[in-house]
Amino acid sequence: EVMDQMLGMQQIEKELAEHFGIAKCLVAAGDCDVQPKVLNEFGELLQNSLATVLPEGQNIIAVMGGTTMAVVAESLEPLETAQRHNLFVPARGGIGEAVTVQANSVSAVMAAKTGGQHRALYVPEQLSDETYRTLIQEPMIQEVLELIGKANVVIHSIGRALHMAGRRKMSAEELAMLKQKKAVAESFGYFFDQEGNIVYKVPRIGLTLSNVQKVPHVFAVAGGKSKAKAIEAYMKSAPKQTWLITDEAAANSILAAN
Ligand code: F6P
Repeated sequence: EVMDQMLGMQQIEKELAEHFGIAKCLVAAGDCDVQPKVLNEFGELLQNSLATVLPEGQNIIAVMGGTTMAVVAESLEPLETAQRHNLFVPARGGIGEAVTVQANSVSAVMAAKTGGQHRALYVPEQLSDETYRTLIQEPMIQEVLELIGKANVVIHSIGRALHMAGRRKMSAEELAMLKQKKAVAESFGYFFDQEGNIVYKVPRIGLTLSNVQKVPHVFAVAGGKSKAKAIEAYMKSAPKQTWLITDEAAANSILAAN
């Protein structure tokens, strides 16, 4: 029976990867909306994937924040070897999250768990345009931005558009605009409609979606039935080299709707 379940899951993984036309899907059993341990399972799947695909030499791994990423970070294990060194950096500057789930925190935890290094990007949220423009000229910030630009690995999550807009305390006008443009998904500070078109960008420094297109190893980690529509929308236009790590609940709901 265990064997049947495994074959069943492999079938779902294959169908989902074909559906999105992406490199690979890994599907954990269950639904992370109601079973928090599924998030740890995402961590294990990511750990195994990184252990397999991370090249030797110096890797620069750009990571996003969020609650999924925060839990996944805690379940990582050593990935350093004599030949392989990993430097974790936040993918984007301050996009409005609580400290514990900010990209800076996620990258620090990932570095600690895997035995790698990390660099933080200190850009506060509420800055005047002028201060912002001056701040990003600082050598310390420029240095980290350069590292981000050289990332060969990206790890991110996907969220529901309006939920993320609320969590980031976006204005009533922005919320109305997102509704009017029928935004359903958010990733990297970009909002997407059901067809995967970008309908809005949060202006922040760091990795852009067009940078991500050229990154050799991209991992998207998101699950739960509640995120099925968001995952589907984002994955429609996701870079084709993306590996999607998700759960059965999201996978089944996406496949059933198609
Ligand atoms: O804000 C960072 C971020 O990675 C978003 O890009 C994404 O939509 C969200 O977090 C996912 O958050 P969560 O894992 O809490 O659903």
